[in-house]
Amino acid sequence: MSALVIVGAQWGDEGKGKVVDLFAAHADVVARFQGGNNAGHTLVVGDARERTVVHLIPAGVLHRQTTCVIGNGVVIDPAVLCGEIDELQGRGYLTDPAQLKIDERAHLILPVHRKLDVAREERLGEKKIGTTGRGIGPCYEDKMARRGLRVVDLFDPEYFRERAARLLEERNVELAQVYGWPAVDLDEVCSEYAGYAERLRPHVTDTALYVSEQIAAGKRVLFEGAHGTMLDIDHGTYPFVTSSNIVTGAVGTGAGIPPKSVSRVIGISKAYTTRVGGGPFPTELDDEVGRKLREVGDEFGATTGRPRRCGWFDAVVVRQAARLSGMSGLAITKLDVLSGMPKLKIAIAYESEGKRLETVPAGARAFAAARPIYEELDGWSEDLSQARRFEDLPAAARRYISRIEELTATPVTLISVGAEREETILLRDPFLL
Ligand code: GDP
Ligand code: IMO
Ligand code: MG
Repeated sequence: MSALVIVGAQWGDEGKGKVVDLFAAHADVVARFQGGNNAGHTLVVGDARERTVVHLIPAGVLHRQTTCVIGNGVVIDPAVLCGEIDELQGRGYLTDPAQLKIDERAHLILPVHRKLDVAREERLGEKKIGTTGRGIGPCYEDKMARRGLRVVDLFDPEYFRERAARLLEERNVELAQVYGWPAVDLDEVCSEYAGYAERLRPHVTDTALYVSEQIAAGKRVLFEGAHGTMLDIDHGTYPFVTSSNIVTGAVGTGAGIPPKSVSRVIGISKAYTTRVGGGPFPTELDDEVGRKLREVGDEFGATTGRPRRCGWFDAVVVRQAARLSGMSGLAITKLDVLSGMPKLKIAIAYESEGKRLETVPAGARAFAAARPIYEELDGWSEDLSQARRFEDLPAAARRYISRIEELTATPVTLISVGAEREETILLRDPFLL
């Protein structure tokens, strides 16, 4: 029995897509269990460096023998999902419908959710969260308010209409009266979503049952987390977070398997830190070094194209993420981006009001007031993109990795030195560590 979970250890965009695609070569199933198309996971494959960005479809999709699952905990925008299926099929992937399974209990993002998301952010102005505007928050709100619509409802048009009418009764009032936006038309929603029912029907099933059967049969199942631990609705930097749980615990509810099925957890972290959207970010660099990280690391959002805020590696954040998810190993990505920096800094703790903090404080204002306590390490000048073994790395890069291991109390099991699959140093078999 082997179920491996991949979790982002920072604020998202750590390179989960690359690592999942790499591990998927040895997986029978790759399953998403939370979030939605606020995620953007990039896969770069082959000598031609063909680039694929997936938002809803699991990053195992380029491996034809790997079944991709969208679990019940994901919120699905069917327009985006159908577009992604079309795009991948147009390129010769996903030609067998059995390769993609969508859970019947997953909630649907409706046009009113997208509108509410954007309208709210506009209203918040300077105080906005900086959401992706994909309707994620409002959809999860309706799930919890027990007025949401689910994939299974697509196949019962009468019930869909009744439920959509009830949802719009409340949400249209909010849209029109709070934000002054035009109301969403019920007929339009029903006819648009009837079309998705037919498109998605071949893929829809009880994926919790499917995944648990696969695990019981000894298949290798990989759970692909989206976003990053600091965006977790409970454990992240609230309120500057997303609306789902991201930590390993979310696999149980979001994929419908008992937590004991999870045997390994790999956290993904960049060798530095980035964040898109608002909220405190203690190690942020608003200077030449930050600009260099953005430029060399090509730090622009895979979903919205927004420039990512960049800063030094924050060991407090990654240590906390490792604890919350019980990470058995860490994959450190984008080590290549740090080449050419004479000195590197790592935040080992914070200082706030004369006190030393070893963990991320709960309060947004307390976190905004936290100043990083840095340790300085030597950099290296060598290009790392050809390194395939730990020994190929310059001594200073090896020391940098070892220090991350010590500070996060987690062994580094993979080092990524480029966006392409091959540009990887694999230190241990992810399913066996
Ligand atoms: P995800 O959301 O965690 O899957 O990450 P994104 O795909 O949003 O962002 C990571 C970006 O870094 C993508 O453009 C990847 O192609 C790229 N990338 C991943 N690993 C590496 C690496 O080791 N080095 C470099 N230079 N780029 C990488
Ligand atoms: P991947 O899976 C980076 C951020 C948004 C915003 C906050 C809330 O590619 O790592 P939302 O639209 O979710 O309500 O926005 O969360 N965010 C991400 N940032 N990578 C992601 O996903 C993200 N998903 C959400 O920028 O700050
Ligand atoms: Mg991303």
